[in-house]
Amino acid sequence: MTLYDLVAPGPDLGGEPRYRIAEIRAADPLGADALLAALPAMNADADVPALTVALRTLVPDPDRVAALAVTDALAAMRDLGILLGSLKRHGTEPVAAVPEVLPVLEELGRRTDMVPRDTVHHYTTWNPRGARQRMYTGHTMEGNLQDAVRMVFPSLVTALGTCAELARMEPYEPGFSLSLERTAQHVRSMVDSIDFTVANVSPVFFAKEMRSYFEEIDIAGVDYLGPAAAQVPLWLVDLTLWQSDRSDPAYDAFLDESMRYSLPSWRDHYAAHRGGTSAVSKLSAAISWEDAERLPPQLAASAVSLVRVLRILKTFRARHMTIARKAYSEEVRHYEVGSGGAPIELLRAVLDLTRDNETLVRQSAERPRTPVA
Ligand code: HEM
Repeated sequence: MTLYDLVAPGPDLGGEPRYRIAEIRAADPLGADALLAALPAMNADADVPALTVALRTLVPDPDRVAALAVTDALAAMRDLGILLGSLKRHGTEPVAAVPEVLPVLEELGRRTDMVPRDTVHHYTTWNPRGARQRMYTGHTMEGNLQDAVRMVFPSLVTALGTCAELARMEPYEPGFSLSLERTAQHVRSMVDSIDFTVANVSPVFFAKEMRSYFEEIDIAGVDYLGPAAAQVPLWLVDLTLWQSDRSDPAYDAFLDESMRYSLPSWRDHYAAHRGGTSAVSKLSAAISWEDAERLPPQLAASAVSLVRVLRILKTFRARHMTIARKAYSEEVRHYEVGSGGAPIELLRAVLDLTRDNETLVRQSAERPRTPVA
């Protein structure tokens, strides 16, 4: 399988307009293709006057915005968004420089039921590849970073379905282990993605060239973060596996803040499942009630599958933390916190939580019976 197979939009993921990736990538509702092809040169020259004119040129009439289909509205936000981040990178608050963009951003936010600026999904999944690719720098490593995120979106969307199934089941049911095995297949893409990133994006390039394009901007008095990879919805999987009742305040606060950058259906999923009983809690309760010599086979299978998914998450997080540490080491960093608004310590805390939950499941299933893993 080539990288193109992994990042190509493929067939639509369903009726949800936000999953019509090929259609959104193909859309150019503001006629921005030619102008955005010149963006890397404007950024290389730190040409704020040219960036300001470019943004002003693209801002559509608010009446036109109200008539856009959701897929076109997402593409329009993508194209305005990359100019917002570019202006901010060179020290200019974009809405202050081009005030007429404010009602357009607000209307696009309403039309798409998302925040009034671009997110990681606009910058990666909904961004075309090839000649029409929107980029801040035009550097190959920037393209690689975009591809790293592109390759996880379809599998995380599918994992949302398997996690919703899982949340409805008990560990004694055969479907519990099956949903976990399917989830494991989907989250493996996160490991592929971080391996691809480690091989193809240097942490120094990220720190020195990319990080400053992801700064927050002020929109009508509210700060909105840039299109950070931290918005990749891995939490959708954590939520059902362990986060809903086995988290800690730092990760909860990060999720509460990150949630607004999500798609509407994911926010609904979060609202429906937060505070529910996680798979780890269900399984450890079921195991603690068992006093037979051996666990019933179905319960043992559920434990094996749960350990498997948690190990994959742990592998992603350990490798991700290594590259994040390098990019935020004192020698190279310009910022103390990540583009998602949180420090490196958060990554350590989430890795520890993932590992602790894996250990809990493994040990409770092993004690004092036949080992499961
Ligand atoms: C050079 C590349 C990268 C660096 C330096 C980096 C750095 C960071 C940092 C510092 C955080 C903490 C939160 C914040 O940003 O404020 C974070 C969070 C996160 N990043 Fe990255 N990241 C990189 C690439 C990626 C990629 C390619 C993905 C996924 C495709 C990803 C997924 C995540 C996720 C899901 C979180 C939330 C915390 C977690 O679930 O463990 N990152 N990243």
